[in-house]
Amino acid sequence: MKKLKRLKPWLEGSRLAIALTFVFSLISTVSKLAIPFLAGKLVNRIVEHRLAVEACEQGGCLEVGSPDFISFFLFLLLIAALIVGTIFRRLFERKRALVGQKIIAEMRKELFKSYMHAPIKEIDGSSKGDLVQRLINDIENVQNGLFSGFAAIFDGVVTILVTIVFMFTLNWALGVVVILLTPLSMVVSRIVSKYNSKHFKAQASASGELSSFVNETLKNSISVKTLGITEDKEKEFAALNEKFRKNSFKATMGASTINPSTRLINAIINATLILLGALFIIKDVNLGFAVFLIGDLSAFLTYAANFMQPFNEVSDVMSELGYAISSFERIDNAIHMPKDVDEGRKLIEDSIDSLKADKVVFGYTKDKVVINDFSLDIKKGQRIALVGPSGCGKTTLINLFMRFYDPQHGKILINGDFAEDILKDSLRKHIGMVLQDTWIFTGTVFDNIAYGKKYASLEEVQEAARKAQAAGFIERLPKGYDTIISDSSGLSIGEKQLICVARLMLLEPEIVILDEATSNIDVRTEKLLNESFKELLKGRTSIVVAHRLSTIVSSDLIVVLKDGAIIEQGNHETLLKKKGFYYDLFNAQFN
Ligand SMILES: Nc1ncnc2c1ncn2[C@@H]1O[C@H](COP(=O)(O)OP(=O)(O)O)[C@@H](O)[C@H]1O
Ligand SMILES: [Mg+2]
Repeated sequence: MKKLKRLKPWLEGSRLAIALTFVFSLISTVSKLAIPFLAGKLVNRIVEHRLAVEACEQGGCLEVGSPDFISFFLFLLLIAALIVGTIFRRLFERKRALVGQKIIAEMRKELFKSYMHAPIKEIDGSSKGDLVQRLINDIENVQNGLFSGFAAIFDGVVTILVTIVFMFTLNWALGVVVILLTPLSMVVSRIVSKYNSKHFKAQASASGELSSFVNETLKNSISVKTLGITEDKEKEFAALNEKFRKNSFKATMGASTINPSTRLINAIINATLILLGALFIIKDVNLGFAVFLIGDLSAFLTYAANFMQPFNEVSDVMSELGYAISSFERIDNAIHMPKDVDEGRKLIEDSIDSLKADKVVFGYTKDKVVINDFSLDIKKGQRIALVGPSGCGKTTLINLFMRFYDPQHGKILINGDFAEDILKDSLRKHIGMVLQDTWIFTGTVFDNIAYGKKYASLEEVQEAARKAQAAGFIERLPKGYDTIISDSSGLSIGEKQLICVARLMLLEPEIVILDEATSNIDVRTEKLLNESFKELLKGRTSIVVAHRLSTIVSSDLIVVLKDGAIIEQGNHETLLKKKGFYYDLFNAQFN
């Protein structure tokens, strides 16, 4: 219930529409349920008329009104109920879909917005697959389970109540019998389905195993073939397949036993009702006042036969609702995840003339320090290199300079100002980054390069591509700058990286950060890429993290890190002379 409270803000804007949905459902359900009642009364009328005619023929005739006005009226009512029921069912479906989908679209929008505004810390700390799942599957669960679920429960409850009213109106004693016997039928079906759910669970888990096995095997097709284990895999598959088959068989057999046992119970209830009903009719006819007639009994039996159905439907929906509510909770939590608050008010007026870290201490978690007492002073135009074993904190330092994270102790200073006082966007606008993972989105080469600079002209884009050494391969593409590319469209990693560099060339950032940008590069484009980076770094302040020391030998300052602390710094020559960590690293790479 507490969880459902969180749903309230989402429903607030659609209050009237939701109320209308319920009203439509109510009208259509009542109309539908009135049909057996009206039909029964019509049959009664015809039977009574018949009896009167017979009585007349035997002599004791009072008066037989021949065109029966009431019968005709009942007939019209019956038709009206049919039409109203159909129209309002349709109106209800439409309204429900409209309201549900509107709310769902709003949730999707808010969720994506929250992803966009979440701090990197939150996104880094969550599984991306999970975030996607929330936006796609969980939203779907909410749509199917929650909105349809509420409507189905409402419908079910109304059906049960209205059916009870009609049954009691027709014959309260029989009504009591139905109410007393129904739990019996419910208990039996509950017991049987509980027994079966075990088999269904086993079937679902076997199916899951099978699909993840196939997924994993296909993903690693090449390894499977080169290792020569295709036959082993087939054997493993056969075993899983057999397990799945056995469980499916049990589940199917289980499902079919639900019906016979509940059907038997229902048949017994039905027979009891027919017997009692017939006795009532005989009694009433003998007493000479026709209160309960054949038409009433048939209407009553219709209600009784369908009485169980809404109970089953509601209980089915309840379990779906459980899923939907936990999905809703996941969505709502993600929508309310912390936002990237920016307390900075200052703007960087002109250029970044100094970037300074002062005794910075930082850890992603409280118990593990990643950066330990780090100080560095970068002046405009300087070329800084960060070197050190993987995991020593190079990327973390960049995260701190970019203010994706803030240090726990110490300060980052920009032009002498405390970094946390500066608007993040203002800082980030001055900095361009090239990372190890390239980012190419589905679109033309032009759009991929022009991204980030609105209204860039073709000439500007071409110029940027030329400077980035990307023009050559782009012009060889089938449609040149208009070729549609994507992350998986067959460009080599090096070519993708050249496009990323061209993107930055166009933006002309003041500071350039390269983080392992030359890792994973194919030999074919390595030389081009080095040229490209040289051009990008020309005349700019830069921070370069590189595995390959050849790319950083000409840096103004090389900072050697170990476990988040500086162990050596200086230019290439002085560090070599020192014969320390850098010297060993350099020799390891070049000998
Ligand atoms: N988002 C994160 N959450 C928690 N720990 C992290 C995160 N990113 C990196 N780390 C840890 O911080 C340390 C430094 O990582 P990183 O700065 O990426 O190293 P480098 O770039 O030098 O290889 C590593 O121990 C790494 O496991
Ligand atoms: Mg790194």
